[in-house]
Amino acid sequence: MTAGAAVAAEPTGFGEVDSEDFAGHSKCANCHAIIRSQWEGSMHAYAYVDPLYQAELVMASEDTGGQTDEFCVRCHSPIGFVSGEIPPIDNSMASDVALESVQCDFCHTVTEGDVGNGAFVSTPGEVKWGPHADAPSAAHESEFNEFYMEAEYCSMCHNVNSPFNGLPLDDTYTSWSESQYAEDEVTCQDCHMTPGITQFEANPGRSASGAPKRDHISIHEIVGGNVFMLEELSDGMYGEKAGERLREAATLEVSVPAEAVAGEEVTIDVEITNSGAGHKLPTGITELRQMWVEVSVTDADGKELYVSGQIGSEDNIEDAIIYQTVLADPDGEVTAKLWGAESIVSDNRILPKGSAVESRSFIMPEDAADPILVEAKLLYRSAPQHTVDELFGEGVYDVPVIDMSTAYGSINGEADVPSESTPGFGALLFAVSLLAAGCVYRAKK
Ligand code: HEC
Ligand code: HEC
Ligand code: HEC
Ligand code: HEC
Ligand code: HEC
Repeated sequence: MTAGAAVAAEPTGFGEVDSEDFAGHSKCANCHAIIRSQWEGSMHAYAYVDPLYQAELVMASEDTGGQTDEFCVRCHSPIGFVSGEIPPIDNSMASDVALESVQCDFCHTVTEGDVGNGAFVSTPGEVKWGPHADAPSAAHESEFNEFYMEAEYCSMCHNVNSPFNGLPLDDTYTSWSESQYAEDEVTCQDCHMTPGITQFEANPGRSASGAPKRDHISIHEIVGGNVFMLEELSDGMYGEKAGERLREAATLEVSVPAEAVAGEEVTIDVEITNSGAGHKLPTGITELRQMWVEVSVTDADGKELYVSGQIGSEDNIEDAIIYQTVLADPDGEVTAKLWGAESIVSDNRILPKGSAVESRSFIMPEDAADPILVEAKLLYRSAPQHTVDELFGEGVYDVPVIDMSTAYGSINGEADVPSESTPGFGALLFAVSLLAAGCVYRAKK
């Protein structure tokens, strides 16, 4: 299936284009200063230099004798790939523009493309393609291309299949295309390039100095859920935006019996609904990402009666369902290495607009003071702490655990809900929780 522009050309191959044909982002910033400052803090600007990516790039190369080098570079440094400068992955041949990761002039000179594995047609030069037919500039020619407004544009890179066996490793586009959002024509751009987060919302302004005011200018922050790397790389501001996005992604509901007597088994049902993400929740590199529910039950004296979903001393998430993709190698052994995967053991992620219900139970103790408070929290982290420690050494990075959503239930009367849950305090509290991350949500070793 080829989307967008009229002619179906072959995707651009390794070394087919000269890197000198691409302008660096600082050139565009002369006029598109706001867009550049938005892009600068985004994961697109770090896609190649991202330390987590670099660590896996090198590991994949070592494991496969270099067979994955071209594949892994294609989406993370598309200019490095099309110019034939990367690989070598030691960057000894790479020009500065290739190290700018997924940048302006690469994205705006793609003329057409296909779903998955970096199937883009790269045509650097005078013409910059975009969403308007009437956007002339003294610096370059501007041409309208509908492709830029379609989810298929993003699908070029946001759908990954194994180069060895075709196994789907990232199905962000596929899961969107099979959802109600695709039916309703709510695109990736609507949620990721507007202030709306879960739907289109206009952002009036100008896209360049001296350009006309327009009803909507697409935002280039393009955040996802990667609070971890964004905090490390972008001075925290974009990490906060990613946290905000995670908190819009899902809703949580808790059901408990109204009454329970000592000795009775109490069942807590927690329903998680993917109310805001236009794809599976979580999505992307889901052999690393983890989402789970933590449940705690306390009595009126603050005594803990039950807890599950806490991070244990071995960095294991205790007694909880983890929403993620589990991959296995050819021997059937579980692996987090996407290049070594041959099968999918399980994928319990939540479909767009879909729900999952899970149950926990405990025995009501003799001496509990009523009323009893049940708290459920939906938590997310970009990668397990122990995986990050294995890659970089202990103490180098602390992976933050993000509180996506919280819900409460009461047994034997109306329990007081902690004051943090006051609606409207979310944003402020998140800022505070980021500052306090060291003691509040950080994984314990
Ligand atoms: C000398 C100033 C200047 C420079 C430098 C410049 N642009 Fe532009 N660009 C403009 C103006 C002005 C427009 C018209 C905007 C409008 O009408 O909304 C424009 C329009 C565009 C459009 C079309 C947007 C649309 O709405 O369809 C794209 C894409 C674009 N520029 C990308 C770039 C890229 C990429 C670079 C760097 C390689 C760059 N520009 C450098 C001034 C500039
Ligand atoms: C990942 C690819 C990607 C990158 C990187 C990127 N853009 Fe864009 N840009 C897009 C897409 C897609 C749109 C159109 C979105 C829509 O309208 O739905 C767009 C829109 C624009 C527009 C038109 C804005 C409007 O709404 O009128 C301009 C101008 C522009 N980009 C310039 C830039 C500049 C300058 C940079 C670098 C600082 C940049 N882009 C980086 C993909 C990209
Ligand atoms: C040329 C390939 C390419 C294109 C085209 C592209 N992306 Fe990306 N995008 C990437 C890569 C690679 C990363 C991962 C960077 C990293 O984490 O190191 C990324 C990261 C992201 C993230 C951040 C993910 C997170 O974990 O927080 C979002 C959101 C995103 N892209 C959305 C989009 C949208 C929306 C479009 C279409 C308008 C798009 N991308 C087009 C390659 C691309
Ligand atoms: C209805 C709004 C909506 C639509 C449509 C949508 N997204 Fe998202 N996206 C979100 C929300 C909310 C999150 C944060 C929750 C999560 O990580 O899934 C997110 C997260 C992401 C992430 C980060 C995953 C990670 O590792 O943390 C990527 C990448 C992404 N989206 C890409 C896309 C692409 C590509 C499309 C189109 C095929 C798309 N999104 C369509 C709302 C949307
Ligand atoms: C088809 C395009 C594509 C190819 C090929 C690709 N990636 Fe990615 N990669 C992405 C996108 C898009 C994301 C962002 C998804 C997300 O945020 O979850 C990403 C994210 C990542 C991340 C997460 C970074 C972070 O900060 O959390 C790692 C690690 C990674 N890729 C490693 C690799 C390796 C290793 C290879 C080669 C075996 C590879 N990628 C090949 C598109 C690609």
